[in-house]
Amino acid sequence: MTGTVKHIHWSHWKCPSNIALVKYWGKRDFQKPMNPSLSFVLRNAFTETSVELHKDGDQKVEFYFEGVASSFGERIEKYLSQISIHLPWINKYNFRIHSRNSFPHSAGIASSASSFGALALCLTELDFAISGKEADSPEFWQKASELARMGSGSACRSVYPGFSIWGKTHLFESASDEHAINLAGGIHPIFSGLRDAILLVDSGTKEVSSSVGHQLMDNHLYQHSRIAQAHQNLNELYLALLTGNQEKFVGVVENEALSLHAMMMTSNPSFILLKPASLEMISRIRRFRTKSKIPVCFTIDAGPNIHLLYFQENELDVKAFIERELLIFCENVKWIDDQIGAGPERIAK
Ligand code: PMV
Repeated sequence: MTGTVKHIHWSHWKCPSNIALVKYWGKRDFQKPMNPSLSFVLRNAFTETSVELHKDGDQKVEFYFEGVASSFGERIEKYLSQISIHLPWINKYNFRIHSRNSFPHSAGIASSASSFGALALCLTELDFAISGKEADSPEFWQKASELARMGSGSACRSVYPGFSIWGKTHLFESASDEHAINLAGGIHPIFSGLRDAILLVDSGTKEVSSSVGHQLMDNHLYQHSRIAQAHQNLNELYLALLTGNQEKFVGVVENEALSLHAMMMTSNPSFILLKPASLEMISRIRRFRTKSKIPVCFTIDAGPNIHLLYFQENELDVKAFIERELLIFCENVKWIDDQIGAGPERIAK
């Protein structure tokens, strides 16, 4: 985006979802992470949101999801009141918000990252316009990331293209618990063809919400080891991204996915979110990798669905493998074809 638009009362953004390779699990204070995480944004899974400021009536937030008034407006109202300390103009206006997702609600893709990402971008644009600040500046993206984080932690990694890191790490002085930073330079070109096949095992409601999940880390016996492991995995993964080391990439990504689930299985109360179909797919993916020598791996969020990661150069072989061996384990025999994306987009009126 270019220049500063003065006195606007309307903003419209499209923001992608992201998938973590090093997982954020456990928080401290207000939406700050216990450990650093690294993710990439998707291309096809996104939320589009428009925010209109007005002074009519007395309803603080009208929220329409895909054209229909939705109770998610209550969560947004709470969020707006939490962040109004950073954006005092929020108290002067009422909000009319329209939002839609590119993926079906039942797709098993967490929509909180893309929806809070899109909302935060709209609020940042409005904030910069109201205060007359330069919009296309590093400060703009940092603010958007920070506001997104306050809505849903992982959303702070959705406002940039490609790969991002959130949380303090000795790798970058600019890394912060308050906002994500973009890994713009130096990534090996092989990763520009990174693909994500989302294999849906169960699109039902989550057995444990992520906020309850994060709390499980508060008194977890393995908390300190998990934090140390995430730092070490981040170092190794970042090196693999720089050097194009696919074997290292595969090893770290699977270790992170299984560690996240190990934390849930060994917490009190304990949760087993993987289903028999998830385990069967994991074992088939590993067998396929060993036999074919093709660098494929899986990652998994706090649910049973498998994200099969692979590289563009292996697209035909991997798609044939999905159709032949994995599709029978997917709900409604469906999977979502996605890939690394170019980040958010401002939509002009
Ligand atoms: O942003 P939240 O609070 O929904 O937490 C997301 C946690 C994981 O998706 C499991 C991992 C991550 O880093 O995205």
